[in-house]
Amino acid sequence: MSRIKTIGVLTSGGDAPGMNAAIRAVVRTGIYHGLKVMGIYRGYNGLLNGEIFEMDLRSVSDIIHRGGTILKTVRCPAFKTEEGLQKAISMAQVFGLDAIVVIGGDGSFRGARDLARRGLKVMGIPGTIDNDIGCSEYTIGYDTCLNTVQDALDKIRDTAYSHERCSVLEVMGRHAGYIALNVGIASGAEVIILPERPFDFNKDIIKPILEGRNRGKKHYIVIIAEGVGGAVSLAEKIEEITGIETRATILGHIQRGGTPTVRDRVMASIMGAKATELLANGICNQIIAVQKGEVVGIDIEEALETRKEIPRDMLELSTILSL
Ligand code: ADP
Ligand code: F6P
Repeated sequence: MSRIKTIGVLTSGGDAPGMNAAIRAVVRTGIYHGLKVMGIYRGYNGLLNGEIFEMDLRSVSDIIHRGGTILKTVRCPAFKTEEGLQKAISMAQVFGLDAIVVIGGDGSFRGARDLARRGLKVMGIPGTIDNDIGCSEYTIGYDTCLNTVQDALDKIRDTAYSHERCSVLEVMGRHAGYIALNVGIASGAEVIILPERPFDFNKDIIKPILEGRNRGKKHYIVIIAEGVGGAVSLAEKIEEITGIETRATILGHIQRGGTPTVRDRVMASIMGAKATELLANGICNQIIAVQKGEVVGIDIEEALETRKEIPRDMLELSTILSL
């Protein structure tokens, strides 16, 4: 395999706090190992359009504490076509990229895998608030997001307490309920609705609220993941059936921004450095993952086959503790 001398780095899919720390780690570790590092603007779009520029040590100064991504991100439908992929490969050749580091989620890794199958070397770093990458216990941005949601929920709880109301909170997670489940446990929510777990309206929502009221509860938190959706109509139905005044809040993109937590900065730094060290050593076509607490590289084809289940014990814990 020919030696990797020049790497590109891009961010793709939904942004996540800590992506900047990962970019910084890639650039600085790359330069440390004697690689030329090129930044690619606007995800796969920038790769197709040749929005590619050389980065130096100072290009990543003062970004470790900033949310979002200095490289920007877009969703790029053209990348799902053969024409788009071929254009990306030839643009990588134009700029002399031997490999690219993709910081993003599952969709972005599918794009990276398609590039790898066509001969462009890749490395993936999980960056998504959803924590839904099958092969990895952790994704960059997840911890910051959890803390943002928890902070918002504590405020919502204050007003739910004062008014003796039920609050329905819709959090992000199109296919994954990690945010909903963990914030639900952290806040003692009465009800947690996840995309991974079918629910019955009367048995799983109305009954626990009324049973709680009969045991003396005066306010209630219901958390629903975006993938299930419908927070506003759910709140209306809860109020209609229980007679308990109910309000809905959809947190939206506040969950994707903000100053990354220490955990996200450190994980992003470790994962970014690992990805780049592997490339400097000629190892490619892997996803950087946390497995049993260790940061490792997993073959990209294998990584994309791995599914992640919501832990059963966490589901049970959430039910027991909300009694
Ligand atoms: P995430 O990476 O956060 O899951 P998306 O699913 O939006 O975000 O994917 C980001 C980008 O990755 C898409 O805009 C597209 O360019 C590329 N992509 C997504 N899914 C695929 C796929 N199945 N095959 C090839 N490229 C894909
Ligand atoms: O990828 C993370 C995520 O926040 C999902 O939970 C959510 O469904 C999606 O991105 C929304 O993305 P956007 O509003 O940027 O299209």
